[in-house]
Amino acid sequence: MASLNNRVTTELAGIMDHFTGAMDEVVRAYAKKRNRNRDINWLALQTAKEYGAIRTHARNMLNQAKNMKPIEEIKKSAHDATEEVDHYYGYRQILEWCLDGKPCAVKKWWDYGDFAEKGGAGPKMKKSLWPEHVDYLEMNKTLASKTRSPWVREVILSNREGAAVAFHYVMSRLPAKDAYMRRLTKHERSVAVDELHHGPEMIAILAKTIKSEKQLEEAKEKVQQMRVQELHQRNEQFLHPLSKANMKKLEKNFLAGTTKAIPLFSTGKI
Ligand SMILES: [Fe+2]
Ligand SMILES: [Fe+2]
Repeated sequence: MASLNNRVTTELAGIMDHFTGAMDEVVRAYAKKRNRNRDINWLALQTAKEYGAIRTHARNMLNQAKNMKPIEEIKKSAHDATEEVDHYYGYRQILEWCLDGKPCAVKKWWDYGDFAEKGGAGPKMKKSLWPEHVDYLEMNKTLASKTRSPWVREVILSNREGAAVAFHYVMSRLPAKDAYMRRLTKHERSVAVDELHHGPEMIAILAKTIKSEKQLEEAKEKVQQMRVQELHQRNEQFLHPLSKANMKKLEKNFLAGTTKAIPLFSTGKI
């Protein structure tokens, strides 16, 4: 059994390290093709996304209180909500600095963070505006509800937020060539440090309760599927710096395990 436990850690972390490398390619494509439109679009959507995360944790906190849950659980949600307030505010400050008093022209941007209480897209999050984003959220929800293994479901749910550290980490490593990038990389680093707790540490906890090799194979397949969709989601958020053909190539390489690996999940350190 010990070796199966180890395989969870090494194989899931291995996939996530390759995912971090693949995400690095998306993020670098954005940095190369940066313009005002792209900067403001992704920042506005990210601000809204963090707002959505504040609301998710605050809703959890209120539900836990109403359902007479232990104080530790209620306080943990309060703490998570506060963490998201810091993320939200950091992006908002950079967005406001970019806008310099002008209104934000990104269409319906607040709706990007309209997560449904039960997971998936909320009613205001329109597929016509952000098809990849909506598909990503719906995919997470469907995969979690369809699996017959509670362990696989746990992996899917923890990977949902846990994967975010990869994006924030590679953003924090972009060259800080100008004032925008200096502000951004500094904030991204602090977000990545927060998110580290939701990612690599969860894999180690889940490794202790695995029961069969079949569960591991199913979890790996689902995690890969979710991560491919996150690559598309982020490329959309940056207004597609990578073409359809380049995204196809990246997806293929990631699934084949040939994208470069950035050792983030295997080391748990940034
Ligand atoms: Fe966040
Ligand atoms: Fe978070």
